[in-house]
Amino acid sequence: RTGIVRIPVVVHVVWNTAAQNVSDAQIQSQIDVLNADFRRTNADAASVPAHFAGVAADARIEFALAVRDPNCGATTGITRTNTATTGFTRATRNNVKSAATGGADPWPSDRYLNMWVANFTDDLLGFATFPGGPAALDGFVVDTQAFGTMGTAAAPFNLGRTATHEIGHWLNLIHIWGDDTAQPDQCSGTDMCADTPNQADETYGNPAGIRISCGNGPNGDMYMNYMDYTDDVGMFMFSQDQVTRMNATLMVARTGILA
Ligand code: ARG
Ligand code: ZN
Ligand code: CA
Repeated sequence: RTGIVRIPVVVHVVWNTAAQNVSDAQIQSQIDVLNADFRRTNADAASVPAHFAGVAADARIEFALAVRDPNCGATTGITRTNTATTGFTRATRNNVKSAATGGADPWPSDRYLNMWVANFTDDLLGFATFPGGPAALDGFVVDTQAFGTMGTAAAPFNLGRTATHEIGHWLNLIHIWGDDTAQPDQCSGTDMCADTPNQADETYGNPAGIRISCGNGPNGDMYMNYMDYTDDVGMFMFSQDQVTRMNATLMVARTGILA
């Protein structure tokens, strides 16, 4: 495929205090970030260092709020649910995905990308499901403070990159360091992408310069990749092999979403 695909999105706002009932404008700010990051039109695309610029890639995926609900009626692509739950946590994180547990039910996951926004009281910024899991849980969740670029979004996670990262997982991308931090050999894990250097651990904050691990010199870790853990300002690229992997997922495991 060389063309562009557009994924219909439904945003479920699950709010307790009025401030958590994020505005339509804040939701649109998140959609705008996704359309920039997945088309490599993000304003910071030129910050990719020269030694990685050759593999930085346009994913050719766009996102739009759904215009039809599951019954084919007109919709804004936004649902709003007033919950009695004052705060969700890691331990109770899937509660946000069901009306029966203080959240909002998903729309059919073979036809929509379900995105939930809710108040998490621990440090969880977001989480996603990989392809192949139960339909009732499919999609991803973002904390109110890490959603979009305005309103409740708070530094250093106020550039909308949590959703970019989570959609990477939803399209089958693995963390760039290979998720082997807890293993004795932190260089044995892999993200299954040949053009991202083998990397020992996740990267936090807003690093600069060459960081070598796992013998990956001279260029070092690709810590500016969306699938690392830096602050929002520090991540601004997908690689070519990540793009191939995401698009393969769309063609095989998530074909319904393109219909
Ligand atoms: N911890 C989350 C995850 O592993 C999200 C991290 C997002 N990082 C960011 N800078 N927004 O899925
Ligand atoms: Zn992640
Ligand atoms: Ca590793």
